[in-house]
Amino acid sequence: MNKKYRRALIAGNWKMNLLVSDVKPYADTFKSALGKSKGCDIAICVPHLLIPAAIKAFKDTRVAIGAQDASECAKGARTGEVSAVQLKEIGVKYVIIGHSERRHYHSEGGEIGNGKVKTAHEAGLIPIVCVGETLGQRERGVELELVRMQVKEALYKITPEALKRTVIAYEPVWAIGTGKTATAEQAEQMCAEIRAVIRCLYGARPARGVTILYGGSMNEENAEELLAQPDIDGGLIGGASLDAEKFAAIVEVANK
Ligand code: PGA
Repeated sequence: MNKKYRRALIAGNWKMNLLVSDVKPYADTFKSALGKSKGCDIAICVPHLLIPAAIKAFKDTRVAIGAQDASECAKGARTGEVSAVQLKEIGVKYVIIGHSERRHYHSEGGEIGNGKVKTAHEAGLIPIVCVGETLGQRERGVELELVRMQVKEALYKITPEALKRTVIAYEPVWAIGTGKTATAEQAEQMCAEIRAVIRCLYGARPARGVTILYGGSMNEENAEELLAQPDIDGGLIGGASLDAEKFAAIVEVANK
């Protein structure tokens, strides 16, 4: 983390887990486990249905609530979808865009992902844009080109002003939910590469200010080594964020 130039962010991703009735007990445990230091931003990205309960439970804390997806349209004939404008209205701050599970199950990414990033910005949300290669792509040695391409696609026609309100998350697909974390070197190499792509697109100063997260089996044990890397500014945490005490322990590592 380089806290001189950018804010650290620890974001939980509950995916399709927990119930409305779990939210308050989780928040109570998390609040009592959390220390006083404010060295990083905190977000919890919950299923749409749990958002009102999460906003209520974390009111008056420094935990921001995020969504896990939003439509690329601001409104209209999109049955079953939720728009960034609707999320903003109820107090959501972040939205995950292009998570590999959405790329896999919903063929998201590319142009749609870029549209979602733009719509999120227009609504006033901060997109957390996920990129990352599969195991096969890493074995074939195309991971750098692939992630570079994903970053360029997601940021197509995104203004320098909007870039300041954008977070990128490097999440190697082979490390998600597998217990197989990327080594600190692998994660740092890719996060530095992502920053280099942004430097080519926007220049040195904007690139220096972008928060880049690592995600993929991050937990309270490996967080310290990962977060010690210069280009890793935080984490997007799935499994370990479901346990309030474990998630608070990761936040404490980033707070230091
Ligand atoms: P994981 O998930 O921490 O359970 O690997 C991370 C993510 O998919 O965001």
